[in-house]
Amino acid sequence: GLRKKEVNVLCLGLDNSGKTTIINQLKPSNTAAQEIVPTIGFNIEKFKSSSLSFTVFDMSGQSRYRSLWEHYYKESNAIIFVIDSSDKLRMVVAKEELDTFLSHEDICNKKIPVLFFANKTDLRDALSSVKVSQMLCLENIKDKPWHICASNAIKGEGLQEGLDWLQDHIK
Ligand code: GTP
Ligand code: MG
Repeated sequence: GLRKKEVNVLCLGLDNSGKTTIINQLKPSNTAAQEIVPTIGFNIEKFKSSSLSFTVFDMSGQSRYRSLWEHYYKESNAIIFVIDSSDKLRMVVAKEELDTFLSHEDICNKKIPVLFFANKTDLRDALSSVKVSQMLCLENIKDKPWHICASNAIKGEGLQEGLDWLQDHIK
């Protein structure tokens, strides 16, 4: 059959936002992990959609590892940025990391798609994806296609919608 196009996706966001849980849900169930632990450094995961073969760099969001993120900007074809919608206290930290990412020399001139997951929408205190989008000032992103999806990574809700969007916007 046809070979699927290979794409690199970089998964970013603060620690505890749900990056690894999301990636684990997207993997074939026979390769999915039973238990998710905080990521040390990063993990590389692979899965396929209908037309693409994804290699995902699932980065640690812990502050001591965030300096690793930029080393993978150049080779990325798309970004998944995960936000814990219930973590109001750290929304400003998430915005700072997003702004630092967007202004990086390897990213600012690149028109790669950025998919945001407003994750943990199942939690009682969770902000809506519209509110998360406002707090992160996503409307200011003019030079890249971006999209935000509400998600519940534990149940897998909202993930396919996001992946479909990403697949349609990767060049
Ligand atoms: P680091 O690897 O430390 O950067 O964290 P991470 O972003 O990979 O987060 P991880 O996937 O390890 O999830 C952190 C915790 O949040 C785990 O206990 C998950 O079970 C939980 N979690 C992830 N997604 C959701 C969600 O949608 N809803 C709820 N309620 N909990 C979630
Ligand atoms: Mg992780």
